[in-house]
Amino acid sequence: MSQLKHLDNSPPTPGKFKMDKSPYIHRLRWHGSLAKLTFWSFIFLGLILIFFFRSPSSNSLPSDPSRRSLRTYNWGGPAWEKRVRSSARVRSRHGMSVLVTGAAGFVGTHVSAALKRRGDGVLGLDCFNDYYDPSLKRARQALLDRSGVFIVEGDINDSALLSKLFEVVAFTHVMHLAAQAGVRYAMENPGSYVHSNIAGLVNLLEVCKNANPQPAIVWASSSSVYGLNTKVPFSERDRTDQPASLYAATKKAGEEIAHTYNHIYGLSLTGLRFFTVYGPWGRPDMAYFFFTRDILKGKTIPIFEAANHGTVARDFTYIDDIVKGCLASLDTAEKSTGSGGKKKGPAQLRVFNLGNTSPVPVSDLVTILERLLKVKAKRNIMKLPRNGDVPFTHANISSAQRELGYKPTTDLQTGLKKFVRWYVSYYSGGKKASG
Ligand SMILES: NC(=O)c1ccc[n+]([C@@H]2O[C@H](COP(=O)([O-])OP(=O)(O)OC[C@H]3O[C@@H](n4cnc5c(N)ncnc54)[C@H](O)[C@@H]3O)[C@@H](O)[C@H]2O)c1
Repeated sequence: MSQLKHLDNSPPTPGKFKMDKSPYIHRLRWHGSLAKLTFWSFIFLGLILIFFFRSPSSNSLPSDPSRRSLRTYNWGGPAWEKRVRSSARVRSRHGMSVLVTGAAGFVGTHVSAALKRRGDGVLGLDCFNDYYDPSLKRARQALLDRSGVFIVEGDINDSALLSKLFEVVAFTHVMHLAAQAGVRYAMENPGSYVHSNIAGLVNLLEVCKNANPQPAIVWASSSSVYGLNTKVPFSERDRTDQPASLYAATKKAGEEIAHTYNHIYGLSLTGLRFFTVYGPWGRPDMAYFFFTRDILKGKTIPIFEAANHGTVARDFTYIDDIVKGCLASLDTAEKSTGSGGKKKGPAQLRVFNLGNTSPVPVSDLVTILERLLKVKAKRNIMKLPRNGDVPFTHANISSAQRELGYKPTTDLQTGLKKFVRWYVSYYSGGKKASG
């Protein structure tokens, strides 16, 4: 202790310390530094441990959406491969084995279930992100699990995972539905659109291009590519250079990317432009869904009107009709022509509108919901904000009719009845509507 005393009295100027040549001081400094080093090593080690224990596992979801790309998943191993193989096993004579991305999503769940029902092999892939209530995605997963469809947890940006899946199963088709959907979320998390709709798409196409045999790919674009077009109904030949949202811009870019992979590598590609899909197990961020929730809660709902009190209308398309269009696209998809990453000949390239061809004003949608729910809605008429929504959508479906035999059969009244029935039973079964 006496050795320390003179240190306590020493002037606080660092320069003075440097000039002190005492051997005691050297020793003390050495011990001090050692103590400091040990202290910081512990802190550092602690931080590493905290990072590992808190880093996202397959069951945790980061609340900050911009961190999604950092998420890690557990996959691989003999038991996992067995599940993958069994789920993708074809059980009908002329069946196909399909990798469905976005399988825990609204459309993905319905398409996966329909393929499985008719004996096709189906493997799902989904990252279960928290763009909307992940418990709904988990419930869809449980539903698919019961019908024998396994959903691999992972990101379409994970090349190692995708390559592994193609190593385990020679998929004949890919139904690519994984994406960042919705137009308003771009204000909050623009990067998620680039991550899933552009980078993820390129990654998936890269893996498909290198697969042997190359699969045929059917993927979801969107009616939003028609943007602010005023000529109706929207036809596949119309211009798509006036996107009104980042979502639409990434879908449009996706179409260009898909065409490029078709042209250079011989991938067979079919792009489907869906028009406002609705139905049971739907997406909570869509108007018909949150209107239902808010009408039941007695909350005021915003009903947008276009410029000069114009009507906002949507070509609402029932999920079963969309599923039929997806399956018909898969059934009529030709084989890709490349191999070993090289094109061997021209490959099929198609784009189809899948809509209902009868736009309904949003105020009529609310009237139907009021009737079905037996509750009067509190309406607040507002001007359509300029955040990505377009005033109307209306599909010309003659191409899909001609080439896919696509013919929507469910009107809005009938479809909403089925949705409301599902909604009430789902959320009265102990689950709460999100938001
Ligand atoms: N529902 C509609 O009205 C509509 C209209 C036009 C286009 N679309 C398109 O149809 C497709 C399906 O839409 P939906 O309504 O089922 O949406 P959804 O959000 O319910 O499903 C998409 C699924 O993809 C998953 N996903 C997102 N990014 C991923 C990633 N990087 N890796 C792995 N999984 C990822 C999500 O977790 C989600 O489960 C999307 O491409 C969407 O843009 C839908």
